[in-house]
Amino acid sequence: MTLQIFLDIATEAALAGGAVLQDYLGKIEDAITEKGRPGDLVTAADKASEEVVLEILRRHFPQHSILAEESGKIGNQENEYLWAIDPLDGTTNYAHQYPFFAVSIGLLINGVPQVGVIYDPLHDELFRAATALGATRNRQPIKVSTTSELNKSLLVTGFAYDRRETSDNNYAEFSHLTHLTQGVRRSGSASMDLAYVACGRVDGYWERGLSPWDIAAGIILVQEAGGKVTAYDGTPIKLDSGRILATNGDIHNTLSRELLQVPPLSSWK
Ligand code: IPD
Ligand code: CA
Ligand code: CA
Repeated sequence: MTLQIFLDIATEAALAGGAVLQDYLGKIEDAITEKGRPGDLVTAADKASEEVVLEILRRHFPQHSILAEESGKIGNQENEYLWAIDPLDGTTNYAHQYPFFAVSIGLLINGVPQVGVIYDPLHDELFRAATALGATRNRQPIKVSTTSELNKSLLVTGFAYDRRETSDNNYAEFSHLTHLTQGVRRSGSASMDLAYVACGRVDGYWERGLSPWDIAAGIILVQEAGGKVTAYDGTPIKLDSGRILATNGDIHNTLSRELLQVPPLSSWK
């Protein structure tokens, strides 16, 4: 089976999930609960979106395995084909009706992201990529930005739900890079952060505490758009490390160096 078929079915699933999110928006106040950590929400929309995504993928690819945020592990996680699914990336935004969230569907083949679809239903933006097939936004080719200096760059990052429990919570990195750049955004949707790197709206993104379903699709999107994705120190990314550095390539080494030498927050007066 070709990557194009995986891409097309993943697109069908992402569009269906996105339609569910749109339907539920603003109608779910009673169905928002915390999953464990404070602020880690799940809504009826997360579950309903995941249900339609899973139905489509399992109907077309019954032999494949799945790692989905709400359903967990389905099938052998060592399978050659593993779908990593976030049915609603940006749940906090969604619960507040802040219009920034997406469905994210990535396919790992032998552990490597090779197909990715991210769909933002409110802006009707569909981001797609597959190995050697390029990256697109609404079916038009996209490329990363050409910004080569950190002080001319716009970055984006995020803060994981364990941020109140650890001092490794990205606050120091956020302050440090806010100082060195034209700005650092916190969008609340990791998959969209990667999609925005891929289409050149931001020049770089880093974050810790992520899960494979947050980033599997976005990794291949950034790579196919000409960008670079690694661990913070520039070594190959490990999906289960939760850490990612994704840039246009030109600012990669500089941003990596800065992330490795962040002064402690106590040095801020
Ligand atoms: C979260 C978002 C957010 C990131 C968090 C993720 P969710 O995913 O991607 O941007 O900072 O670490 O957990 O919970 O909205 O699917
Ligand atoms: Ca997520
Ligand atoms: Ca989610």
